[in-house]
Amino acid sequence: RTKTTFASLAAHKAAGEPIVMVTAYDYPSAQIADAAGVDMVLVGDSAAMTVLGYDSTIPVTVDEMLMLTAAVRRGLSTPLLVADLPFGSYETSDEQAVATAMRFVKEAGADAVKIERGGSSVDRARALVAAGIPVMGHVGLTPQTAATIGGYRSQGRTASDALAIRDSAAALQEAGCFAIVFEAIPTPATDAIMPHLEIPVIGIGAGPGTDGQVLVFHDLLGIYDGHAARFVKRYAELRAPMVEAVAAYAADVRERRYPEPRHEYGMPEDQVAHLTQ
Ligand code: KIV
Ligand code: NA
Repeated sequence: RTKTTFASLAAHKAAGEPIVMVTAYDYPSAQIADAAGVDMVLVGDSAAMTVLGYDSTIPVTVDEMLMLTAAVRRGLSTPLLVADLPFGSYETSDEQAVATAMRFVKEAGADAVKIERGGSSVDRARALVAAGIPVMGHVGLTPQTAATIGGYRSQGRTASDALAIRDSAAALQEAGCFAIVFEAIPTPATDAIMPHLEIPVIGIGAGPGTDGQVLVFHDLLGIYDGHAARFVKRYAELRAPMVEAVAAYAADVRERRYPEPRHEYGMPEDQVAHLTQ
């Protein structure tokens, strides 16, 4: 398997070959994504909910995201590694955005960063690209600003809203983003916007017409015990067998069925004899 590059992503789009992206948040999930042969891995700020137990992406910090990103880096060989800049770490100024993104690249080994929204984020994207940091955009449902867009609901359901998303996406492309996420956008809106973009569009709840798809690791594997959005497809139900396995261990310990002789370390007989002196 060859390493994913920004050029190979563009080539996938040009050839009409779907791009596969999944989130990962630690070393084992990164190794699993890598072994499965995905093209891109996102250390999403969805980590706030999936692995840190917050109830939104708002509270997750740069330091928390850096630790997760560094762990994912150690588990990846060929996929491109994109890290989300968390809420509050890039909005204030171009300088803030570049300083934060540099930490993800230099300290955690990210290949690229992702920021949410159009508007001021277009300027941030331009500044990041000028500083030499590849940037992915993210439009439609932007969870960091869910409160200002009417909550966790699809975006672009009116023609004027869809055209606003188109304009944001085009501006992010013009600012130099190498790709863009479309989240929770009605399929007719996505299909109307796609012809206006040359960069790869990675969809999540944006229909089949994008250049690729992304899903959250814990959603697709059925590990996360929470509300699943409409776009989630569960390819496994791993939470139940994980709970069963830990419960079986607990029962074995309580019934003294574990450990068994094969789990024990031995000692030379002559040494055992000395123990009783
Ligand atoms: O944080 C995340 O997991 C994301 C994807 C859903 C695109 O931003
Ligand atoms: Na995110």
